[in-house]
Amino acid sequence: MIMSEHSLKSGSFVRLDQLHESDPEKITIRLGRTISVFRGEAEKVLQQIKSSKADIGEYIFIEDIGLLGLSSNKSKVEQKLATVRQESRGADLPEPVASPQFKKPLYNRVVAITGGAMGFGEGIARQLFREGANVVIMDINEKEGARLAGELNEHRSPNRAMFVKADVSSLESMQNAVFECILEFSGLDVLISNAGVLKAGSIEELEEKDFDFVTQVNYKGYYNCVKAVVPVMKLQNRYSASNFGDIIQINSKSGLVGSKKNFAYAGSKFAGIGLSQSFALELIEDRIKVNAICPGNFFEGPLWSDPENGLFVQYLKAGKVPGAKTIKDVKRHYESMVPAGRGCRVEDVVKAIKYVIDQEYETGQAIPVTGGQVMLS
Ligand SMILES: NC(=O)c1ccc[n+]([C@@H]2O[C@H](COP(=O)([O-])OP(=O)(O)OC[C@H]3O[C@@H](n4cnc5c(N)ncnc54)[C@H](O)[C@@H]3O)[C@@H](O)[C@H]2O)c1
Repeated sequence: MIMSEHSLKSGSFVRLDQLHESDPEKITIRLGRTISVFRGEAEKVLQQIKSSKADIGEYIFIEDIGLLGLSSNKSKVEQKLATVRQESRGADLPEPVASPQFKKPLYNRVVAITGGAMGFGEGIARQLFREGANVVIMDINEKEGARLAGELNEHRSPNRAMFVKADVSSLESMQNAVFECILEFSGLDVLISNAGVLKAGSIEELEEKDFDFVTQVNYKGYYNCVKAVVPVMKLQNRYSASNFGDIIQINSKSGLVGSKKNFAYAGSKFAGIGLSQSFALELIEDRIKVNAICPGNFFEGPLWSDPENGLFVQYLKAGKVPGAKTIKDVKRHYESMVPAGRGCRVEDVVKAIKYVIDQEYETGQAIPVTGGQVMLS
């Protein structure tokens, strides 16, 4: 297979000093995969790669920029499928070529979702997978994340799901997760920074450690995600003139208006919009769009509806909603505060995600998906 400009996807995702070894043989052993070695400056190396007959999915090692993954835009997935077909002749497999409506914006793109094991993240992973994306679930919850990836892969769809254990509050962990993603899919097109935590309380109640925890996951965690993926996306875009990368933060309506006795969360979300706007200004020249999506309350998700620890139960017990006798009463009260009369759902958020990816002429936006509860001025 001769690589063309368009068929090259690459990512500089591990710096040599982070690999702890520079001997390609040792790296090969560590990765458990064969890698070819090219030496010299990036441009020269690319010439060498193009004139060599590198195989799809082969990994190459370049001394001054690290490790690159190769794959064909046409579809590495199709190749995999061909193998599966050979191995399981007669099996009722789907057509490798997706129907036209799936071609854009998600078909065969590689989408990583932090916090993808549960809640919004899980729902987003499921829907994007259904629309043809390869999804990488990055989460601290190994059990649920691995279970979800396994379940999606059972669909025998040509696209694939993968779970990588990752903690967004650690830059190293995120860099490793991106590394794993590139090894598997040879690229990363969309990063959805979704993992988030909430600790509510008044200024007197909320302890410093809780404030730090929320800040570390929601604010610093978003920075860690962006820091880890930008080198990969920049390189991908460098070698494909029409390629765009997308970084999407799942923010909140609490990133647009203050939230009473919930300042740690709201502050971290406001700050996330500051990061999105600033990254957007910096990264558009490399064709990386950065946008935030600000959902309203996800009443059907575990944060609100968990029968033991969900917010509805907590609010009922705390008597937060005057006159409420059941969980349903509490829920109705919160639904009545939304002009659209219901909570935000996964499909509402996914529509916004698809818009952001499809729209090439917008970046740095914070898009409310709140049923009219929060309106931009
Ligand atoms: N639930 C809502 O009503 C609501 C509303 C608006 C915005 N949001 C935002 O949506 C996002 C998802 O919220 P949710 O309600 O689905 O949450 P959730 O608690 O249901 O799920 C969060 C997921 O993130 C994972 N996670 C937590 N800390 C992590 C870390 N350090 N590294 C990696 N993964 C981690 C968890 O294991 C879990 O799988 C958050 O950013 C949240 O702020 C939620």
